[in-house]
Amino acid sequence: MPVPKAVRGLSRRLTRYGDEAFARFLREAFLESTGLSRESFDRPVVGIASTASDFNPCHATAPGLIDAIRRGVTMAGGLPFTFPTISLHESFAYPSSLILRNLLAMDTEEMLRALPVDAVVLVGGCDKTIPAQIMGATSADVPALVAPVGPMLAGHDEGERLGACTDCRRLWALRRAGDIDDARLGRARGRLMPTHGTCMVMGTASTMACLAEVLGFVLPGGASIPAVHSERLRFAEATGRRAVEMATTDAPTAAALITAGSVSNAVIVLQALGGSTNAVIHLAAMAGRAGIRLDLDAIDRAGRTTPVLADLKPIGQGFMEDFHHAGALPALLRRLRSSLDLSAKAADGRRLGEVIETWPAWTDERVIRPTDDPVAPGEALAVLRGSLAPDGAILKRAAASGPLLQHEGTALVFEGLDDLAARIDEPSLPVTPDTVLILRGAGPIGAGMPEAGSIPIPAKLARAGVKDMVRISDARMSGTAYGTVILHVSPEAAAGGPLALVRDGDRIRLDTAGRRLDLLVDDAELTRRREVWRPPPVPARGYARLHAMHVEQAHRGCDLDFLVGDGSRESRD
Ligand code: FES
Repeated sequence: MPVPKAVRGLSRRLTRYGDEAFARFLREAFLESTGLSRESFDRPVVGIASTASDFNPCHATAPGLIDAIRRGVTMAGGLPFTFPTISLHESFAYPSSLILRNLLAMDTEEMLRALPVDAVVLVGGCDKTIPAQIMGATSADVPALVAPVGPMLAGHDEGERLGACTDCRRLWALRRAGDIDDARLGRARGRLMPTHGTCMVMGTASTMACLAEVLGFVLPGGASIPAVHSERLRFAEATGRRAVEMATTDAPTAAALITAGSVSNAVIVLQALGGSTNAVIHLAAMAGRAGIRLDLDAIDRAGRTTPVLADLKPIGQGFMEDFHHAGALPALLRRLRSSLDLSAKAADGRRLGEVIETWPAWTDERVIRPTDDPVAPGEALAVLRGSLAPDGAILKRAAASGPLLQHEGTALVFEGLDDLAARIDEPSLPVTPDTVLILRGAGPIGAGMPEAGSIPIPAKLARAGVKDMVRISDARMSGTAYGTVILHVSPEAAAGGPLALVRDGDRIRLDTAGRRLDLLVDDAELTRRREVWRPPPVPARGYARLHAMHVEQAHRGCDLDFLVGDGSRESRD
């Protein structure tokens, strides 16, 4: 139920007893029980959504960050209330954190609908948390800011700078190939993540923090401040102060920030960052909550005209601390200004154009490249379509091997993750470097779309020096990963997409230049195969059942169908 604008602070959303005066009296009595004096009861209320959890190492600094936000709120005359939501970490979410993203979004939305908040600060960072929080705040339609926990500092080992998880994957692949031993891998493990914070390459967490800044949820320059720098705490304090300002003025709500212009800006920035493929799903889901349909072809078009300018792993060499010291996101936006909607709102209340105008001019061109000297010659992300992916598939083109971008090969099919784990390293696996590895049953319905699309190179080929192969799946991959990996094939196999019909030995053609992905099998044969295809069983109970019955396909953002749109700006066709 919408709350009248005149009703603010603790008088918002009074519990329904049929007696509002009693409800407010009771609320105040409980607050006095905490030691809070009644002088503060008429202040604007700022909620602080905490995703601190012992199961989320990336958010280990969240409590300190929240203290700083509370300090900022109090300094500005507001009343801060911290409240918990579920927290998602990539390594502590079975079977996949993406399933739970929608649960965190629902948790956030429902708490924001239930609690008396005039504005909210969302404290997140690890991959799914920021998109989930923005999805929830957008549906609840409250003024919202995001305080990312910030990235880790880079690691150092044996003369190399290391980053999670690009180098976790690289070193693991070297171990599989027999190029390093367990002792070397063990030494590196303790240095891959030397501080608290989110993964410090341009993986999903960094990408989503930057996109949240472009969309107007993060104060300018805040996405990249390292988690352990004092600047991060000062940023948090400023975020608390700004939240009070938003609570007491006509600041735009979360839904009002997500416009066609701001989403288009986010797409351009995603390409210029060489950002995570996961961002395509999250951006579609966040836009969907505001009633905006993300067009995959618009992402592809943006890629063709937007060079990769951020020299960060996994496409480039640097880390988020380098990006921050190089000038941070507004310096990158300045490079892209001719393509951006400069009238979009920034989190500090100004227009994006004003932020760019006043941002310090100094930029380290080694990290934030000029447009005529990009990091990669082509676009970061490409969208493929064809008989194998009628509704689209995503390729991180800039992280793929050039010679494999145009490729035709024979399919070798894995039926889900258990089959993959059981057979990938079999000495008798019928595989050559030209084989196209297929993983299916790993899409949103089939398995919650885990980050399994970066299928390991079969051990016998890895030991022979093969570093990359064409790999195709309905799964996702970590934003920190790389290779000629085609992801998010839609519709997925569990929904009866053509991927379900592929058999070992079929020919598959990847034509990246033509943006095609085709299964070279005639229609009559595919019809015969479809007649014997059966969908997988739906989970029997709980959230897994709700998810499997209602999750949308990857090209729509994997949201639950009944949560898309805000009810007033209908987005579905
Ligand atoms: Fe949390 Fe990478 S696992 S950001």
